[in-house]
Amino acid sequence: MEDLEMMVEPLLKWFQKNKRILPWRDDPTPYHVWISEIMLQQTRVEAVKDYYARFMKALPDIRDLAQVSDDDLMKLWQGLGYYNRARNLKKAAQRIVEEYDGKLPNRYEALLTLPGIGSYTAGAIASIAYQIKVPAVDGNVLRVMMRVLGSEKNISRPSTKVWLEERLSAILPDRVGDFNQALMELGALVCVPNGEPKCQECPLRFTCQAYQTGMTTVLPIKDEKKTRKIEDKTVLLFYFNHNIALWRRKNSGLLAGLFEFPNVSGHLTTKEVIQYLKQEGIEAIRIEPLPSAKHIFSHVEWNMIGYKIVLDDFVKERPYIWSSLEELHQKYAIPTAFGTYLELVIEELSHRTM
Ligand code: ADE
Ligand code: SF4
Repeated sequence: MEDLEMMVEPLLKWFQKNKRILPWRDDPTPYHVWISEIMLQQTRVEAVKDYYARFMKALPDIRDLAQVSDDDLMKLWQGLGYYNRARNLKKAAQRIVEEYDGKLPNRYEALLTLPGIGSYTAGAIASIAYQIKVPAVDGNVLRVMMRVLGSEKNISRPSTKVWLEERLSAILPDRVGDFNQALMELGALVCVPNGEPKCQECPLRFTCQAYQTGMTTVLPIKDEKKTRKIEDKTVLLFYFNHNIALWRRKNSGLLAGLFEFPNVSGHLTTKEVIQYLKQEGIEAIRIEPLPSAKHIFSHVEWNMIGYKIVLDDFVKERPYIWSSLEELHQKYAIPTAFGTYLELVIEELSHRTM
């Protein structure tokens, strides 16, 4: 028996007792597992619950997902970030309808060929929904296992993940769905990132190399984070007649195709805003500065300032889209990056104080 196999029983027992009650665990169909795993790749479990419920209510099966409009899909995904993941869900759903009669394939290799499904997601769907004996290695599992194994391999390298997948493949039990989820759950609840893991509560401490050798805060080894590029922006909230002006972002790059409040790069003074408006042929009757805001993406950081600008007429030419409060809630997907300004707009439009 491989040494590593000693972890299996204690881990399964711990999971049985400590697993969280999560909506997608009630009825782990392939579709439920797929959607929840994609959401969980970018967001905390607590936050995912509401998104998951809303998504399943709107799109209860794969055929619904294959047919949803891009704008409705973006609205459902609003706030989850990494919007390309949602676009890939739809692309994959369309292929599943065309090629697999609307059912997620029950083969690991077939799952891997679908857009947005890599080895982790394919492993999670195959093992949790179909009990196929394959590992599901994400960042949590990498962290836990590098500690258990006392390995100084760099987890930022793809080869480390492949190596771990092979090690785990050798010890997977019949209850493979539970085993994979137990590792993720241990990573979320006990063997936590950023600082001291809770080794005193851990069922693996008797076999854990990092615990035995005092390496728990040193492992896992990973690349230093790249510093983010900082972009200054000035957000312009144009109000007219209880409507707010929006733009649609271009169809490629960051937050492609989503809606946003008009904005220009750099931090403009009130004088410069007046100049900008003149140049654009926009007549304002009032300009007020707004609080600043910051949003951190994976590769860039936005430093925003803003102005409230009340107009005395619609700016009719594109690219401006005029939205009512109702449409802002129901129709247009505005990324979280604009959250501070979105709240101000909702406040304004609800109180009609402009
Ligand atoms: N994080 C990502 N997927 C998970 C799962 N299935 N269970 C617990 N935590 C997770
Ligand atoms: Fe992680 Fe500590 Fe458990 Fe090792 S003993 S797996 S470091 S929580």
